[in-house]
Amino acid sequence: MMMKVKIVADPTAGGKAGYELFAAALENNARVFGLATGSTPISTYDEITASNLDFSKCISINLDEYVSLAPTHPQSYHAFMQEHFFDKKPFSKSYVPDGLNPDEQEETARYEKLIAENPIDFQILGLGRNGHIGFNEPGTPFDSITHRVELTQSTIDANARFFDNEKDVPRYAYSMGIGTIMKSKEILIEAYGENKADAVKKMIEEPSTEQVPASVLQQHSNVTVLIDQAAASKL
Ligand code: GLP
Repeated sequence: MMMKVKIVADPTAGGKAGYELFAAALENNARVFGLATGSTPISTYDEITASNLDFSKCISINLDEYVSLAPTHPQSYHAFMQEHFFDKKPFSKSYVPDGLNPDEQEETARYEKLIAENPIDFQILGLGRNGHIGFNEPGTPFDSITHRVELTQSTIDANARFFDNEKDVPRYAYSMGIGTIMKSKEILIEAYGENKADAVKKMIEEPSTEQVPASVLQQHSNVTVLIDQAAASKL
């Protein structure tokens, strides 16, 4: 197994370590950065956007977006990325799936083509409590490409706190597939807090299985797992 595991004290220290890896990739001529949403990568994004790194000629491609939400909707992943990253320090161009495109075939093919034409050099991932990456829930085939996902009830429930009403939570999302993610040259997956400890253990120490999407990363040759002591507590 080739995964490098880096354990830090807390998410703040994780942000500094995540920044270092991003900076090293940039120094090594990475030009396409894959980005994630969720609370996990925020400390890394804070360090990157506060730095003097010059990625003004680079592009970013996000993992996923809710189907049906406009980019201006406060809970859209477009809005999240604007707030936590792009408004502070922009790339030359940033791509996020178009949640308003009702044509599933067209949108997923468009996005997959975009990634094929701009291969991802450095991909940042968060880890879901159930081991998901992007919106790829347990059971998603390891060779999946960009697709429309029907959200599980547990994901809908977990996200309901961000909406006025549970009924307002989107039921579908567009997400890079697991196969899409695996084509990235280098991957950084971050996880913080005790509620990620089970998923971290399964991802790193148990056999790779489609029931734990992140365990596919055991099969990738350049992965860093960046976790805090709480997330590492079951290793
Ligand atoms: C959502 C996102 C994932 C993210 C996960 C965990 O499901 N689609 O990309 O990793 O949430 O979120 P958090 O980082 O807030 O724990």
